[in-house]
Amino acid sequence: MKRILSGIQPSGQLHIGNYFGMMKSVISSVETADLYAFIVDLHALTSVHDRAKLSAGTLEAAADFLALGLDPDKCTFWVQSDVPEVCELAWILSTVTSMGLLERCHSYKDKTAKGIAASHGLFAYPVLMAADILLYQAEIVPVGKDQKQHLEVARDIAVSFNNNFGETFILPEAAISESTAVVPGLDGQKMSKSYGNTIPMFLEDKELRKRVMAVQTDCTPVEDPKDPAKCNLYALLKLFASKEKMEEVHGLYVNGGAAYGYLKQDLFELIRDHFTAARARKKELMANQDGLRAILKQGAEKARAKAVVTLDLVRDRAGLRY
Ligand code: ADP
Ligand code: TRP
Repeated sequence: MKRILSGIQPSGQLHIGNYFGMMKSVISSVETADLYAFIVDLHALTSVHDRAKLSAGTLEAAADFLALGLDPDKCTFWVQSDVPEVCELAWILSTVTSMGLLERCHSYKDKTAKGIAASHGLFAYPVLMAADILLYQAEIVPVGKDQKQHLEVARDIAVSFNNNFGETFILPEAAISESTAVVPGLDGQKMSKSYGNTIPMFLEDKELRKRVMAVQTDCTPVEDPKDPAKCNLYALLKLFASKEKMEEVHGLYVNGGAAYGYLKQDLFELIRDHFTAARARKKELMANQDGLRAILKQGAEKARAKAVVTLDLVRDRAGLRY
């Protein structure tokens, strides 16, 4: 059984980009893999400095995963900061990570360009992510395309450690599904919590409809032909609509007749229906927060048992013994 691992930041409401980019495949892999899934609150701290927001976001993100069908009894599911060994490993790894490797990371540049403070934590983010992956000796890491470079960095760091101290870490591989590699946001850029352009999946109907109506489209008249490849709304519809429905929509785009207002209404209904059952489950989970905490604590114990074994080996290899 392959060991699959992935994490998500509780830095805001989870959205359909997170769902198609990562959560869906992670949740379904529970049947065939040794799955490690976690909420990366230490990473979220690079962009959220609001106690109430971070702690509520962490519990909500956990509820989202469970509501969408993750079975915590069949995997290891926890909150990153409940296993503090990851911070020690991140420090050790940082000593074999070149500055140049981190300086080349797009994510740091993109985030600072969007106004996130250029802290040391944000710069060192990929090292903590490498520690996340290597601490559990993960083989496969399902992520959206934006994380591809971070996976390459994790591999480079693993190689660097292995070269310095002897074979210790398994080299992880990214698993990126091409069809959902980048889900566009309301403005056509990558949908992201940090860009304020998301469609969260657990919104109430009224809010959800409002978001969907805010999907940006061009001003081509209804009867004119349109290029589906350039349309954000089309890309979003494709994630939810049946093959038959998409054939019809495709025809309307290329031959003329695609009315954005109607298509947005279709998209709203498709998203609403897709998540109806999960929304009900999330309500139940959030009504029993102590139950949720208990699930996470149990998961952290399982994760920690694995983490201490790797960290012990790393300390030994690095000479942190006397
Ligand atoms: P965000 O950018 O919204 O803060 P995260 O960085 O927490 O999201 O990403 C969690 C997971 O969801 C990652 O695997 C990431 O690649 C994936 N993901 C996030 N946004 C998208 C998107 N727009 N399209 C595809 N995958 C995405
Ligand atoms: N950096 C990832 C993101 O923003 C989240 C993350 C942290 C992660 N640690 C990880 C993803 C380990 C996969 C594996 O999406």
